[in-house]
Amino acid sequence: MVLYAPSILSADFARLGEQVRTVEEAGADRIHVDVMDGHFVPNLTVGPLVVRSLRPITRLPLFVHLMIEHPEQFLHRFAEAGADAILVHVETCPHLHRVIADIHELGCRAGVALNPATPLEMLHEILPDLDEVLIMSVDPGFGGQAFIPHSLDKIARLRRLLERRGLSRIDISVDGGIDDTTAPQVVQAGATVLVAGAAIFEAADGPAAALARLRRAVQAACA
Ligand code: DX5
Ligand code: ZN
Repeated sequence: MVLYAPSILSADFARLGEQVRTVEEAGADRIHVDVMDGHFVPNLTVGPLVVRSLRPITRLPLFVHLMIEHPEQFLHRFAEAGADAILVHVETCPHLHRVIADIHELGCRAGVALNPATPLEMLHEILPDLDEVLIMSVDPGFGGQAFIPHSLDKIARLRRLLERRGLSRIDISVDGGIDDTTAPQVVQAGATVLVAGAAIFEAADGPAAALARLRRAVQAACA
């Protein structure tokens, strides 16, 4: 089963609630919230306030992708604001084991994101503690970038690794450059969650039609 996680990074923030409701009605499975600090990545976005505002307007789980340095300082704020899952970057966490334990302690699902240049081996010890691995298929910081093709091999290797270690319950999310062409490819490589920003919120025919198209592309390829 494939889950669809629209990223609000490319949404119209003046109409954010309406756009989230639109993708919820169109069958999205989660809302992906990109948090950037201008240090770990060269861009700034939103913080716990936006998570707090979204919490009452949707039943969908809110997945918070922290592209920030020192994420450990902000976990409780995002959890209190209503995050259902928190994803941190391995590149920002020298004490990753403690961070994952803290996320679980706060009652959230825990995931780890890997930049394109970061090897899967970084997860060797922590893997059994995770609910999700997020493979970045672009360098994080901006929506609308082109999918990095060698991400497909990384996803396939992660899928084999999870199977070999009896950890197939762990979701493999893919984030960056997901569209009608790349979505079927990443699913065939072993991804279970598709994060998509520009392909959904910048589609000329609107987010609901775009989400339906993405789903059809995946179903056609996997039939
Ligand atoms: C990138 C963010 C992504 C982004 C993906 O730094 O983590 O979630 O929104 O955007 P698209 O789907 O436009 O590549
Ligand atoms: Zn993201």
